[in-house]
Amino acid sequence: MRIAIVYSSAKSGAWRDALAAELPDAQVDIWQPGYTHAVDFAVGWAPPPQFFAEQPRLRAFLSVGAGVENILSNPKLPAELPIVRVEDAGMGEQMADYCRYEVLRWMQRRDEYAAQQAAALWRPLPAAWRAEWPVGIFGLGVLGRKVATAFASDGFPVNAFSRSNSVGEPNVRLFSEARGVDQFEAFMRATRVLMIFAPLTPETRNKFDRKALQMLPRGAYVINVARGALIVDEALLELLDSGHLHGAALDVFHEEPLPRQHRYWTHPKVSVTPHIAAVTPIVPAARQMAAKIQQLVNDQPITGIVERSRGY
Ligand code: NAP
Ligand code: GLV
Repeated sequence: MRIAIVYSSAKSGAWRDALAAELPDAQVDIWQPGYTHAVDFAVGWAPPPQFFAEQPRLRAFLSVGAGVENILSNPKLPAELPIVRVEDAGMGEQMADYCRYEVLRWMQRRDEYAAQQAAALWRPLPAAWRAEWPVGIFGLGVLGRKVATAFASDGFPVNAFSRSNSVGEPNVRLFSEARGVDQFEAFMRATRVLMIFAPLTPETRNKFDRKALQMLPRGAYVINVARGALIVDEALLELLDSGHLHGAALDVFHEEPLPRQHRYWTHPKVSVTPHIAAVTPIVPAARQMAAKIQQLVNDQPITGIVERSRGY
């Protein structure tokens, strides 16, 4: 069996080594233009169209990312080729820590205390209670579910919104598109910290426009760790400037790297991180992929196959 790593990243060598360790009988190569072998499986991220055009024997493409919009948009992607995305492999825990950090920073008014310290000002601010900080997870999938259960076990009120009528979690109040058109607004109104975990699809692109963001209660916060294009930037900035929203922590952007002149870089209510909320851990993810490749070779069912019609 031959496997290609199709990933223009300094990490491709580490991926090759990790997969080769898991599948000692396979030949694992790093693909680059000019590569002449036909491969059975490919592992990677944002493959160039040329790759698919040259690989008639390919049985599946395994994405090192959870989001697959950059594979689905490939003009040479064969219509029937299974796309398999990585499932958690340690990313859920990272996402929970990213969100916890931001929520606790806001809740404990650490930016205000830092400003007070700079002025040598000793002034206790009112205490905060978790019960007053309902969080809302938009997208109760593999990662959103991990974050929802983490916040629920920390004692926060947790709302979650999914597309289908998903299975719930203890102490998580479930809203869904499938339950009715009023559900989205009810979810937003009940949420003080919105956390976005849904994939980028035609339905979710620009989902958080002015009308939607305004449904959040005054003084609410937004964390986006999904994809930048779910948010209409101008709407978010306008609502931060008007005081309707108190803060945003953004890890993902319409254009990455975030252009130097973008207002997010200098906005006092915005925290910017460079798409690091959950980095795919190579060894556990390679183990997960190797197991799936073996199952596919043995014609066994696997999880994580992307449903092309819904876009994730
Ligand atoms: P997932 O398991 O596929 O979960 C997606 C969730 O979104 C599901 O609950 C799904 O609802 C929901 N959803 C899809 N379309 C929706 C819509 N139109 N309205 C409402 N909910 C909708 O994906 P995941 O593994 O949790 O990953 C989520 C996303 O995180 C990825 O797509 C990726 O973009 C992003 N991500 C970012 C980073 C980072 O470092 N920033 C790292 C990893 C992943 P159903 O349950 O009804 O299907
Ligand atoms: C990263 O953004 C991913 O989709 O895994």
